[in-house]
Amino acid sequence: MTDAERSAKTISLLVARKQAVALDTFLFELKSPTGDDLPSFTPGSHITAKPPSGQSRRYSLCNAPHERDRYLIAVKKETTGRGGSISMTTQVHEGDTIEVEPPVNEFGNSRTTPATTIFIAGGIGITPIRSMILHLLQQENRDFRLYYFTRTPELMAFRDEFLGPGYADKVVLHHDNGDPEQVYDLWPILENQNGAHLYCCGPKGLMDSVRDMTGHWSDSSVHFEDFIGATAAKATDTPFEVILEKSNSRYEVPVGVSILDTLRNHGHIVPSSCESGTCGTCRTRLIAGEPDHRDLVLSEKEKKNEIMICVSRAKSPSLTLDL
Ligand code: FES
Repeated sequence: MTDAERSAKTISLLVARKQAVALDTFLFELKSPTGDDLPSFTPGSHITAKPPSGQSRRYSLCNAPHERDRYLIAVKKETTGRGGSISMTTQVHEGDTIEVEPPVNEFGNSRTTPATTIFIAGGIGITPIRSMILHLLQQENRDFRLYYFTRTPELMAFRDEFLGPGYADKVVLHHDNGDPEQVYDLWPILENQNGAHLYCCGPKGLMDSVRDMTGHWSDSSVHFEDFIGATAAKATDTPFEVILEKSNSRYEVPVGVSILDTLRNHGHIVPSSCESGTCGTCRTRLIAGEPDHRDLVLSEKEKKNEIMICVSRAKSPSLTLDL
């Protein structure tokens, strides 16, 4: 999406409520400043919001889709991230307005009705899954199980809600205290598909592990949301040069700034959407140089001559792009 397309779709929403719901995690209630209904959404959708730091970030909606007058998002402050969550959690307050692109669903789009639905959430990955569960509870077929993991109880958003009586036989909440020996064993749950559909959202390690355990499930029955995005900045990052072959220009990409933002800062119009290495919009042909791929999109084959410029950097002193 170009900057012009992005701004044409953007709506300004009022931060009607900001509330801590777990350690370093805040729930934001976003409403129309005029009290109108908001663009509708389906369970599993996300919005793209622009915190004061200026970088667009995707946030899953965690409320029920039938609530037409508000969006709820929960944001965990990631001190090792690229700054979007820090800006959202520390610089956005009740009464502020925030620019938001309407909801998009890349996660919960299955049209089939499974015998049962298995939800697996790690950390803040509960957000799209909460919306899907609230939606499911409105339906006739409401058979589901939720397996929700965090390191400690303090890090678990909506913990009291899921400990409530309505969820007693449907929810497993587990904390591994950062000890690999205490990780919940999902194999007995996933060994036999039994007509189930699976939705998983959480840290990469959890999703990789669930992918491994469901390799024998049909592709259409397993759904993942890479909401957390690609690898964040690393302490070892160094500046490098980006050379644009077609426009015959070259710029330094500083530490802490993406190739995408570097190009924008120099007036180039570059399409993007997630800006977290998960959607594929900023795919760019690589002509020369050794990339440091950090996206979750490209195949090993594609990595030879393509790069996601919203997250990836360079291992060589320069990269030449087909731009
Ligand atoms: S903008 Fe989505 S992968 Fe780069």
